[in-house]
Amino acid sequence: MGGTINTKSDTLTWHRKHLLGLEELSAGEISLILDQAAKFKKQANEGETKNNSLKGTVVANLFFEPSTRTKTSFNIAAKRLSADTVDFTAASSSLSKGETFIDTAKNIEAMGVDHVVVRHSTPGAPHLLAKHLKANILNAGDGTHEHPTQALLDIFTIRENLGSLEGITVTLVGDILHSRVARSNIWGLTKLGANVIVCGPSTLIPPQIEKLGVKVSHNFDEILAESDCINLLRIQFERQRNAFFPSIREYAHLFGMNGERIRKAKKDVLVLAPGPINRGVEITPDVADGPNSVILDQVTNGVMIRMACLYLLNQQRKKNPQ
Ligand code: CP
Repeated sequence: MGGTINTKSDTLTWHRKHLLGLEELSAGEISLILDQAAKFKKQANEGETKNNSLKGTVVANLFFEPSTRTKTSFNIAAKRLSADTVDFTAASSSLSKGETFIDTAKNIEAMGVDHVVVRHSTPGAPHLLAKHLKANILNAGDGTHEHPTQALLDIFTIRENLGSLEGITVTLVGDILHSRVARSNIWGLTKLGANVIVCGPSTLIPPQIEKLGVKVSHNFDEILAESDCINLLRIQFERQRNAFFPSIREYAHLFGMNGERIRKAKKDVLVLAPGPINRGVEITPDVADGPNSVILDQVTNGVMIRMACLYLLNQQRKKNPQ
């Protein structure tokens, strides 16, 4: 990857209205979010879990796809910043009566919403809202495109454990083709100077992905020993219309993280997974719950990252009121 990367955030201020993806962020902007999250984590560890930064504002969670971690942690993050929160669930909404996505969002905004967190199966849905709404938009996952706060919490967890991203090797294993987490991780990790390997069956690796500055491998065992971190991505059966590999059993045999592979990997290799995990497919329970796993730390850090994103967007909103 080479070159000097400016990851310093101390001379930067946040100037963006929305958080739509990591593709458009600079290394400094990514570091600004990570550093703010670190401040919130330090405060929480010292017993200061709540502050008044977003008091008087409303955060709406618009989830058009299921979620456990992202939706709950955005909710907790908003409450820790003293915002009021509102949850929208597509299944029980007036969408079933024919209301459009934009009309639904505009009606929710009209109730006095300042920040909209949106997850949708269509790539670009948050970008569309950013064009039509006055609220700040935070992308909580758009189809196969990006999941910026997931990548930020993955990167935060790596930085917390290894100190820096520069020069380390992070391997993303699994369904790269359908993974918004992979795409956001690739943007973020490469900008911060990490070497990224994507590994999986050839049917689940997008063609020409090397152009994003990553190395491709179809042999997990060959790249185990050079990986400082291994991020195990879920097979996204809900986004697959074809059979991309002969059987789950074969996938687990070739690309699953298990005790044998942990023994072949670096002693302190960090094992990450964005979740939800399919135990016995991409990871075996002994590894998921073992000493190298930071999976639940990622979830804890997700609250701090989402606090940092809401905080920075709100600071900018206060400077440039609508
Ligand atoms: N990692 C992630 O996005 O999990 P959820 O789908 O539960 O939000």
